[in-house]
Amino acid sequence: MDILEGIKRRRSIHSFKEEQVSKEILEQIFTYGSYAPTHYMKEPWKIKVYQGDGRKKFVQSIMKSYQRIGMIKDDDHPKTLKTIDSLSSFLLAIPHHAVIYYEQPDDRIRNEEEYASICAFIQNSQLAAWQFGVGMLWTITPYMHDPQFAKEIGLENEKIKIAAVMQIGYPKKIPIDKGRTPIGEKMEFVEF
Ligand SMILES: Cc1cc2nc3c(=O)[nH]c(=O)nc-3n(C[C@H](O)[C@H](O)[C@H](O)COP(=O)(O)O)c2cc1C
Repeated sequence: MDILEGIKRRRSIHSFKEEQVSKEILEQIFTYGSYAPTHYMKEPWKIKVYQGDGRKKFVQSIMKSYQRIGMIKDDDHPKTLKTIDSLSSFLLAIPHHAVIYYEQPDDRIRNEEEYASICAFIQNSQLAAWQFGVGMLWTITPYMHDPQFAKEIGLENEKIKIAAVMQIGYPKKIPIDKGRTPIGEKMEFVEF
């Protein structure tokens, strides 16, 4: 698929087949991702992929985080247990969860630069994945901002910031193209 067609055809994927994507393909996808522009060649992105049994502790930590931050009640009422059970099953059915993180610089501007280049890395990776028939969902969720969650999944360093969690796998269903606003409505040329 040509790169321009890939940009238009890629969709965020919400349901995945059980089959895992091989380590080789994931490495290739993120290698393409890493050709993103990066100020001072910092290449700030780091990736931890939770897959197979590695998803169990990851999903448990998400549930504990949701309880800590009040998104799920912190009790053992049957209704709470049912919520935890169904949310866990949903997350455990996703073959790979890739946590994209970086070490936050103290300087605010440098931090924006690092984050911007990580976003470029993520989009490059999503586009590369599409070429391999692999789907992704870029997620930003409340547990990403919970320092205890980061510690529990093995990101001990206090300076670490989780930029996104990518859900990855072969698409079960590809959503329809919602299209985009004509760019002319958002763009103007200033020539005087
Ligand atoms: C920074 C960012 C965060 C996102 N977070 C979520 C999310 O938490 N959950 C979700 O379902 N989609 C999330 N999305 C995906 C968007 O909903 C999706 O890109 C949008 O609906 C357009 O669909 P498309 O990617 O298929 O063109 C996120 C996208 C971006 C760029």
